[in-house]
Amino acid sequence: MKVILLNGSPRGKQCTYTALEVIANRLKEHGVDSEIINVGAKAVAGCIGCASCVSAGKCFVDDGVNEFVEKMRTADGLIVGSPVHYAGASGHVTSFLDRAFYSGSSAMQGKPGAAIVSCRRGGASAAFDQLNKYFTISNMPIISSNYWNQVHGNTPEEVLRDEEGIQTMEILADNMAWILKCIQAGKDAGIELPQRPAKIKTNYIR
Ligand SMILES: Cc1cc2nc3c(=O)[nH]c(=O)nc-3n(C[C@H](O)[C@H](O)[C@H](O)COP(=O)(O)O)c2cc1C
Repeated sequence: MKVILLNGSPRGKQCTYTALEVIANRLKEHGVDSEIINVGAKAVAGCIGCASCVSAGKCFVDDGVNEFVEKMRTADGLIVGSPVHYAGASGHVTSFLDRAFYSGSSAMQGKPGAAIVSCRRGGASAAFDQLNKYFTISNMPIISSNYWNQVHGNTPEEVLRDEEGIQTMEILADNMAWILKCIQAGKDAGIELPQRPAKIKTNYIR
């Protein structure tokens, strides 16, 4: 079993990464593999809505999004981490996820997902809600913890001193591992994903 941990901080191995590492270590204790993918500091293109991905099966921009989607095809779960930027998710991760889900949501469907956010002080709930929207439109069961998934700090050291935040990350990892094992047990017992009907899109116009 493998969980992809997407680090949406353009600053790399800092606060969000530290929280994701806590999760990775805890998943390992449960025998669950993980891989942290950094969106990086390079520019991430936003979705221009050209819909060329519908026929091509991938985004025409080659900046890591397609590689991430391919990794998700064989992964069992996804955890997205982001720093809080102006009470929302980072611009980098928003652009990244808009394109990943628009071009490749089939790779994520039915797989458990969770979001975590790192902030200095405020805006965590709004950013957390924003990230969960990608999962709730993609038939993904959301994994929770005993608090909203946030850590506080401006440096990795401060994050590690956020005792409650770290426990929230550890319990999230426990719950992710538990659900992955339940899903596997279900598959072994012959329980498959529900058949999905073709999507009805009305655009509210009759
Ligand atoms: C552009 C920008 C906007 C930010 N906005 C907020 C904010 O709204 N609320 C907050 O608490 N921290 C804010 N911060 C601080 C970061 O969220 C915080 O330091 C976070 O832990 C950094 O995570 P990282 O080290 O993984 O990038 C902001 C930082 C930047 C660079």
